[in-house]
Amino acid sequence: MKWILLFLLPTLAFAQPSKEQQFRFSLNTVIKNSTMPDVRPGMVVASPSRENPDYYYDWVRDTALTYRAMVDYYELTKNPQIKKMIFTWIDSETYRQNQPTFTGLGEPKYFIDGSGYTGGWGRPQNDGPALRAVAMIKFARLMLQENNQDYVLKKLYHGVIPADSPIKKDLEYTAHHWREPSFELWEEEMGLHFYTLLAQHTALQEGAKLAQELGDAGAADFYNEQARQIGQMLLSQFTDANIGIKATIRRVNGGLGYKTSNIDVAPLLALNHNAPYQKLFSLKSPHVVKYVNTLVSVNRQIYKVNHDYPNLGVAIGRYPEDKYDGYVTTKEGNPWFLSTLALGEFYCQVRNEAKNSKLNDLIEKQFARALFHSDRKGAMSEQINRYDGHMQGAYELTWSHNAFMTAMMRCGLVKRK
Ligand code: NOJ
Ligand code: NOJ
Repeated sequence: MKWILLFLLPTLAFAQPSKEQQFRFSLNTVIKNSTMPDVRPGMVVASPSRENPDYYYDWVRDTALTYRAMVDYYELTKNPQIKKMIFTWIDSETYRQNQPTFTGLGEPKYFIDGSGYTGGWGRPQNDGPALRAVAMIKFARLMLQENNQDYVLKKLYHGVIPADSPIKKDLEYTAHHWREPSFELWEEEMGLHFYTLLAQHTALQEGAKLAQELGDAGAADFYNEQARQIGQMLLSQFTDANIGIKATIRRVNGGLGYKTSNIDVAPLLALNHNAPYQKLFSLKSPHVVKYVNTLVSVNRQIYKVNHDYPNLGVAIGRYPEDKYDGYVTTKEGNPWFLSTLALGEFYCQVRNEAKNSKLNDLIEKQFARALFHSDRKGAMSEQINRYDGHMQGAYELTWSHNAFMTAMMRCGLVKRK
């Protein structure tokens, strides 16, 4: 018996967790990063890392995506602890929406006491309010299903101007600012972005439905009309014969300058984050297919880890010209966990629609790629070194774990209660 144990131990130490085990690890890490004792309740740190890099702040985008996943998880499990966290998050967003900041609701990043960040930053970032609205609208729907209309009217949506409820504030901000350039999700370039605009389109479209149901018909018309115009812009100005979908147009002052291909994982993230709501871009449409094929082949090509481990899925970075290595913006970019997992999630969306079991193998390989580069005990940082495959950048990044959770849920691998 003893001998068998001795033989097994080293293998166990290096064994990768199963997807289901990693889901538990990721959920626990997200909860941990969302309940830090020195952080205002309801706020989420992007990572526990306080230096090199300092991610000990709450980014509106990261937190909105975190809680969108929490709402999705609550829908599946009806877990009361998660529900309580969601209530606390809504109170905290309500508080922070009323804080003075440099750019109002477009402020991307907050100190952990809930006040707006005061240092230099790429601001505004107008995806944040839209993503937050979509997460809250979904929760409002669940509360309506639970016959808790009181909560919705009191805490989430109230049809008055000036807006005094969180969803309406975000919708008003979005409806009035989408035409203006803002920084994209990577916080580097001012312009108009596919990612931001698709999030804004969804927020206004879903917001219009909620407004209509809650008797705010005039607002519903206005939100719908803005959503329609955004849709028109996305379809006409962001599609491209060579790369399918462009990430950014109308860069202000030339943007970064070196980001020339316009091939970016951001549209892929957008197609995940706006499902199942957006109907502008069918996953089978020629532009989407062209875009995803281009994205995958470029990423497969540029990272050594993809050549070294060709049997795993493709490790995906932000964009080919990226110089952010997780610490400084003057080196070489790497694959990221969240983008690598996003490709798996995307394949699951396609499979869900088309019942195409040929994708099963590709899906498994994307999960395997992410688990392979994790520490095999549940930890995931921001990035994966493109040469040696080790983790780097902010450790235990909330968004990496969130991406694991959303991929699992989209792939139907988390059980409904
Ligand atoms: C530059 C990176 O490219 C950007 O994405 C990041 O948010 C900031 N540095 C802050 O770390
Ligand atoms: C850098 C990423 O580029 C940005 O999207 C994110 O919001 C922050 N890090 C925080 O995770």
